[in-house]
Amino acid sequence: MILVTGGAGFIGANFVLEWLEHNDEPVLNLDKLTYAGNLHNLDSLQGDARHIFVRGDIGDRALLERLLAEHQPRAVINFAAESHVDRSIHGPEDFIQTNVVGTFRLLEAVRHYWSALPATQKEAFRFLHVSTDEVYGTLTPDEPAFAETHRVEPNSPYSASKAASDHLVRAWHHTYGLPVLTTNCSNNYGPLHFPEKLIPLVIVNALAGKPLPIYGDGRQIRDWLYVRDHCRAIARVLQAGRLGEVYNIGGWNEKANIDIVKTVCALLDELRPRSDGKSYAEQITFVQDRPGHDRRYAIDARKIERELGWKPAETFDTGIRKTVQWYLEHPEWVANVQSGAYRDWVAKQYGAVQ
Ligand code: NAD
Ligand code: DAU
Repeated sequence: MILVTGGAGFIGANFVLEWLEHNDEPVLNLDKLTYAGNLHNLDSLQGDARHIFVRGDIGDRALLERLLAEHQPRAVINFAAESHVDRSIHGPEDFIQTNVVGTFRLLEAVRHYWSALPATQKEAFRFLHVSTDEVYGTLTPDEPAFAETHRVEPNSPYSASKAASDHLVRAWHHTYGLPVLTTNCSNNYGPLHFPEKLIPLVIVNALAGKPLPIYGDGRQIRDWLYVRDHCRAIARVLQAGRLGEVYNIGGWNEKANIDIVKTVCALLDELRPRSDGKSYAEQITFVQDRPGHDRRYAIDARKIERELGWKPAETFDTGIRKTVQWYLEHPEWVANVQSGAYRDWVAKQYGAVQ
């Protein structure tokens, strides 16, 4: 079996679903169920013996040792993290605890488990660490996209904590020989995305008749990838990635935030027109910029294509249409994540705009 951490979150849950659609190899899913973890993401696996869920913290060494000894996974894929940049600005502590200390404890537990494995299992074992393009910092409009060799220059508490975890993973390979792989991916979007992130927030707010908040001038650029393409890339790196290597994953879809929001509005205008006949774009509201806001991310994904033959299957047009349709078809999922805690966060982040 494989051990997945953070498998109740956005990408982790999509990964578990994608994995079990194509494999019968069981998944042990360890997730703390923070505000971002949602077991309803995995409702379709109820009663499926291939999925074992354990609520727990990647920083809990005793729990990790027990789970590893009991289930003997052949691989660990580490998705668990605090993942929202704006939250890291308001309160960096949790990001250090989970992303840095948690990854350290996970690495140590895995190292002890792996060291004691019989030779053939030891050789086949893999630790795959899921990271982000944000560790590379920001690009000017003319700079080439981030390659794996780009300097690491994180600018937010979130990206600094992810960069720290990437360094730990690298060091555990160089020093202890732990068979690691690291992936650094661009912005994901798709079903099950928590509506504090730009695309789901805009869909949910638009339908609720609320403002669509754009930070600063809205000309910041992100490189968008449909989440299931990311999941397939991770599975491919796990299968054939070279030990100790970093693989950048991206969609070759650089887009300014304002254009993303206008695209979502146009799709909603087509699929669920406003009752007054006006466009959802009328709800766009420019708000104060994010402190230290990175201007542009772009991923050079040629290495994973060249070495492992991975390319995204979705274009932005097909992926964003599927995404908007999914949110329109799952109002109960949206209602469920809009708990009291969610509303408190929205009030803190957006204040009077809401
Ligand atoms: P998410 O916030 O939706 O989910 C994170 C999951 O981790 C949640 O289920 C949460 O309960 C769990 N978790 C948090 N702290 C934990 C802990 N201490 N122990 C166990 N579980 C814990 O995040 P996501 O968007 O799915 O991102 C998953 C991973 O991918 C993260 O490592 C993130 O840095 C990385 N990443 C995300 C994106 C993106 O666009 N969302 C892009 C590139 C990389
Ligand atoms: O690049 C990969 C990263 O993408 C991941 O590592 C992070 O976990 C993930 O959260 C995401 O980070 P971003 O900060 O890019 O995503 P977010 O959806 O928060 O914001 C996308 C862009 O939209 C960013 O430039 C900020 C802007 N934005 C965001 C929100 C929530 C707005 O203009 N208004 C908003 O209300």
